[in-house]
Amino acid sequence: MVSEVIVLHWSSETANFKTNKCMQTLFPELKILKVKPFIKWVGGKGQLLNSINNHYPIELKQGKINKYYEPFLGGGAVFFDIIKKYNIKTAYLSDLNEELILVYKVVQRNVYDLIELLEKYKKQYSKLTKKDRNDLFYSIRLSYNINRFNINHKKYSELWIPRAAQMIFLNKTCFNGLYRLNRKGKFNVPFGKYERPKFYDKENLINVSKVLQKAIIKVADFSNLKDEVNKNAFVYFDPPYRPISKTSSFTSYTGKMIFDDKHQIRLSKTFKELGKRDNKLMLSNSDPKNTNPNDIFFEKHYTGFNINRVLASRAINSKGNKRGKINELLITNF
Ligand SMILES: C[S@@+](CC[C@H](N)C(=O)[O-])C[C@H]1O[C@@H](n2cnc3c(N)ncnc32)[C@H](O)[C@@H]1O
Repeated sequence: MVSEVIVLHWSSETANFKTNKCMQTLFPELKILKVKPFIKWVGGKGQLLNSINNHYPIELKQGKINKYYEPFLGGGAVFFDIIKKYNIKTAYLSDLNEELILVYKVVQRNVYDLIELLEKYKKQYSKLTKKDRNDLFYSIRLSYNINRFNINHKKYSELWIPRAAQMIFLNKTCFNGLYRLNRKGKFNVPFGKYERPKFYDKENLINVSKVLQKAIIKVADFSNLKDEVNKNAFVYFDPPYRPISKTSSFTSYTGKMIFDDKHQIRLSKTFKELGKRDNKLMLSNSDPKNTNPNDIFFEKHYTGFNINRVLASRAINSKGNKRGKINELLITNF
């Protein structure tokens, strides 16, 4: 599959859009793969990509690093940015959310079957009245929740394909694309009442499947990287953010655990461990100094690393009524 595609490899000097256009004019046979996240995810890095990619390691741009790890995958905005620009041989993608990983694996293996099901949902939804759309949403949510007991998340099967279609349907039609489970493990986000939700972009989904041929995808806690990463890799960590106010927290993506300070500290230890092995590491997090200039949590746990600040447009609290430019951290070991 992947052989049809030429993923252009930019050098640091040529990594800009103008050159990209120019190369296409000079070499029309070169197809530049357009690929971007296909699901909405809380904490998605789409809007921050411009600032983040200014901090990518030079070795990635020079083609000296060809292994990429992203242990908090979510929507994968940084992965998609990197895979289309640089010469990555293998990407190791993981997340603790097994339903999210299920979807990625289906896109990797059975994208055309998945597209067929999504097309059916799209057609069905577009013909319905507001009330019937609401009913359809809740009936799919119910079926998704009941079927969670019939799925073996450890073994790929045909049953994964309709489940992935349901998950994408719910992701695109629920309130704000949230993925939230209650204590019993039931998806409980309400209907989002969108007029024209974008269920999927066919070309993008096919391209996602193509680039995923280079990926090893699995359900894992980030600490597993200690057993997997040797040297000369680039690792991007995008954990659930440390809350900067009492109402800003959305730290449980899996329904199983709250990513509290204990986990943030555990993560800083993994970061230090991988850093000792000659890898390039980058980590995003919230900047506590936005609300408390005396908070030195990250200075304390990432002593000796570069703590950069980038501007982001984020809601400061969970109600979203305090949206504005605030700093976020980008910690690197290079
Ligand atoms: C901030 S989101 C990642 C956002 C993503 N980078 C993007 O652009 O959409 C954090 C992710 O970490 C995952 N997660 C939470 N705890 C984890 C853990 N202990 N190990 C691995 N992944 C975890 C969540 O399921 C969630 O998908």
